[in-house]
Amino acid sequence: MKAAITAVAGYVPEDLLTNADLEKMVDTNDEWIRTRTGINQRHILKDPTKATSDMGAEAVKELCKKRGMDPTEIDLLICATVTADMPFPATANLITDKVGATNAWGWDLNAACSGFLYALQTGAQFIESGKHKKVVIVGADKMSSIVDYTDRTTCVLFGDGAAAVLLEPHETYGVQDALLKSDGGGVQYLRQKAGGSLHPPTHETVDAREHFVFQDGQPVFKAAVKGMADVSYEIMERNGLEADDVAWLVPHQANLRIIDATQRRMGLPHEKVMINIQDYGNTTAATIPLCLRDWESQLKAGDNLVLAAFGGGFTWGAIYLKWAYDSEA
Ligand code: UT7
Repeated sequence: MKAAITAVAGYVPEDLLTNADLEKMVDTNDEWIRTRTGINQRHILKDPTKATSDMGAEAVKELCKKRGMDPTEIDLLICATVTADMPFPATANLITDKVGATNAWGWDLNAACSGFLYALQTGAQFIESGKHKKVVIVGADKMSSIVDYTDRTTCVLFGDGAAAVLLEPHETYGVQDALLKSDGGGVQYLRQKAGGSLHPPTHETVDAREHFVFQDGQPVFKAAVKGMADVSYEIMERNGLEADDVAWLVPHQANLRIIDATQRRMGLPHEKVMINIQDYGNTTAATIPLCLRDWESQLKAGDNLVLAAFGGGFTWGAIYLKWAYDSEA
């Protein structure tokens, strides 16, 4: 039995942070941001009473509505995030409570920008083993809660959002193969320096602005270009897929230039690549399911999709799946 995606839904907050807004906040300009990253705007969750679980809950409620399913039918909910509402309990628990998924268990999974792929492969195991019938994978991040809006090298990159997919058993469609990697040596280039057990919060860590995303962009860029392209190519090769066989590349949206490099390595035309970075920026765990949400109406049963990501850890990987339904059917 395979684990097929049978529904997808997403949520982005209404408020926008445009490149023009950022020009007024830090020493940057629209041209630099667009040419170096491909981003025009991001959605930001401004309501201080709302957090990652609220966006995740909106996505899951919509998911249930679209599938005509009561939340009590959900067996398991995994939430990929680096911006949990609080260190504990898990955001997955908060989401299940908010949507009324009273029969679900679940947990958070932290693999930064590869979180959705890691969670998808984890959730798929419970379907493939026959243990569960309905598994929800959420990718959700309120990146604005850990972005330093005085640091021009990172604040232009990130946005807030959430999206979710439902996994159900299917005889042929669904996850076909996964190639997931990690290298903890990447911690030196991309991390949140304080707030964990190594450097618990103190006045000093707050004063030193160590609770925000720290990124040394260039080494991450170089590793991402190679890592994402390598795994995407390798998963095609080991499944005997030619460029013509791939209907869509669904890439993590961190930088348009990283996406372009992956597309070239796979030999795909531009029209087969899902790109919405211009509208949302990098929403970390939410980028890939938000793409699936935005392109759902164009997907057909049996389409071969390659999902690919690279992010903090380092973590990276690719998943090859066969789409399971015609959305207009
Ligand atoms: O999703 C998680 C994984 N993360 C990624 O995949 C991100 C990977 N990294 C990147 O996407 C790119 O490295 C960035 C978009 C972060 C930066 O682009 P870059 O082409 O690597 O630029 P750079 O860091 O080499 O900086 C070039 C110049 C520097 O000025 P000098 O030293 O040449 O005078 C920066 O200070 O651009 C400057 N700069 C900016 N200028 C205007 C850096 N940020 C900005 C900015 N506006 N926002």
